[in-house]
Amino acid sequence: MIIEELHKFRIPEFVAELGRKRIEGYPVEGFVYGEGPHQPKLMLIGEAPGETEALGGIPFTGRAGKELMKSLASIGLTREDVYITSVVRSRPYRYGQRKERDGTLTERKYNRPPTKHEILAHAPVLDFEIANVQPELIVTLGNVGLQRLIGKQAKVTEMHGQCLEQPVRFLRELEDVEYEWTDQSFTIVPTFHPASIFYRPSHRPSLEADWLEIGRILQERTNG
Ligand code: URA
Repeated sequence: MIIEELHKFRIPEFVAELGRKRIEGYPVEGFVYGEGPHQPKLMLIGEAPGETEALGGIPFTGRAGKELMKSLASIGLTREDVYITSVVRSRPYRYGQRKERDGTLTERKYNRPPTKHEILAHAPVLDFEIANVQPELIVTLGNVGLQRLIGKQAKVTEMHGQCLEQPVRFLRELEDVEYEWTDQSFTIVPTFHPASIFYRPSHRPSLEADWLEIGRILQERTNG
């Protein structure tokens, strides 16, 4: 257990504090730390925490998380083997109305995708993780993670399952509003966000095939 803890990576408090400060004033809640070993086989980059994650503080523990764990299991991995993070670390919400069984309307918070400004606010947190975790392979889950790393023109529907070798975008200075490219190249495999199959079940076969491909790439790398 102690040895395992030594191999874990967690962003230092000053980076988390910076993230909290930069996102202040936006309609978001909570702050979920990335989780996993240092130099893992895989770094998974999601979009932003949902309600379950914002409450519990652990990434991918809601409905999408269950799907993600199934994908990991399909290639013999568990949550402990991978580093899990997201583009934005606080839950973006909007208010909406829900009709209760007795017909009354109640106001509640719903998840929503993060905005460009929220993504920029938390960019230094993800930059810090990518630079310090040094994953062998990055898997982006959905368009938000993919576009944060390689730009807006990238589309998961067109690029899923491909193995890219390329630099990623990062913020050079905290006050910058434009991203720059890293000198270092990373290996990136884009795939769908695990929640996407809830509203588009037809993506499931592609998602499963992408994960098998990720498993194959990892095998190939291990066998040298
Ligand atoms: N989506 C994410 O990107 N991260 C989570 O933790 C949950 C859903």
